[in-house]
Amino acid sequence: MITLRGVCKHFPDGTRALDDVSLDVPRGAIFGVIGRSGAGKSTLLRLLNGLEQPSAGTVQVDGVDLGALDRPGLRALRRRTGMIFQSFGLLANRSVAANVALPLELAGVARGERDARVSALLDRVGLADKAASYPAQLSGGQRQRVGIARALATRPDVLLCDEPTSALDPETTRSVLTLLGELNRELGLTIVLITHEMSVVRAVCSHVAVLDRGRVIDSGPLDVVLDGDHAATRALLGEAA
Ligand SMILES: Nc1ncnc2c1ncn2[C@@H]1O[C@H](COP(=O)(O)OP(=O)(O)OP(=O)(O)O)[C@@H](O)[C@H]1O
Ligand SMILES: [Mg+2]
Repeated sequence: MITLRGVCKHFPDGTRALDDVSLDVPRGAIFGVIGRSGAGKSTLLRLLNGLEQPSAGTVQVDGVDLGALDRPGLRALRRRTGMIFQSFGLLANRSVAANVALPLELAGVARGERDARVSALLDRVGLADKAASYPAQLSGGQRQRVGIARALATRPDVLLCDEPTSALDPETTRSVLTLLGELNRELGLTIVLITHEMSVVRAVCSHVAVLDRGRVIDSGPLDVVLDGDHAATRALLGEAA
C-alpha cells in the first residue's frame, strides 16, 4: 500500500531527519514505527500524505508516486489518508459533530449526506450522545475518538497516527488501540502508527519499523523483528518496553 525507496529528508538548517529510508507497508497492515524522540518518526509520517516532500527518494501510496502529484492530486491523496495526533487537534469552538463534519465540508459533501455520515461515525466510535458537546467537555479518550471519527469521515484507505495514545492513561490507551484494531479489520484500513512505547506496538501492530537517528535499522512482521538478533533493535526495544 505504501512504498518508500531511498527517502531522505534534510531541512534547510542542515538537520538530516531521514536518511535513505526504504519501507514497505502492506495493504491492511497495522504498521508500527518506533524510535526515540527526534528519530524522524513524525517527519516520516508527514511524507506519507504529502505534508512534507522528500529531499531525495520516492514515496508511493497505492501505486501513485506522490512526487508526481499536482495540487488537486495532493488534495485527493489527503482525503484518502486520514491523520490523528497525540494532542487530538480538535477545534475548540466547534461541537463534536461539527469537528467530524469539517473534512466533509471541505470536500464539498452535501449537508444531508454529511449529517448521515457524521452520525454513523459518532455511533461507531461510541460517542453518539456527545454530538452536541464541545471538545473541552470530553475526556482525553473521548477526544481521540472524535479525532478518529474525523479522520475517517472521507473514507480513507490509510490512517496515519502520530503518537495517538501518548496523552492517555493505560486503560484509555487500550480502548483506543482496540478501536483502531477493529476499524482495521472492519474497513480493511491500512494503519501507520507512530509510538515510542513498545507496549503499543505489541498490543496492535502486525508489522514494525525501528527508526534510529533517521535510519530504519530493522523492519518487518512484528514476530520476525521481535525474534531477531539485531543488537541495536534489541537495545532500543528493551529500552522502549
Ligand atoms: N521543520 C523542521 N526544520 C528543521 N528541523 C526539523 C523540522 N522538523 C523536524 N526537524 C528535526 O528533524 C528531526 C526529526 O524530527 P521528528 O519530529 O520527525 O522526530 P520524532 O521522531 O517525531 O520525535 P518525537 O518522538 O519527539 O516526536 C529532529 O532533529 C527535529 O528537530
Ligand atoms: Mg514526533
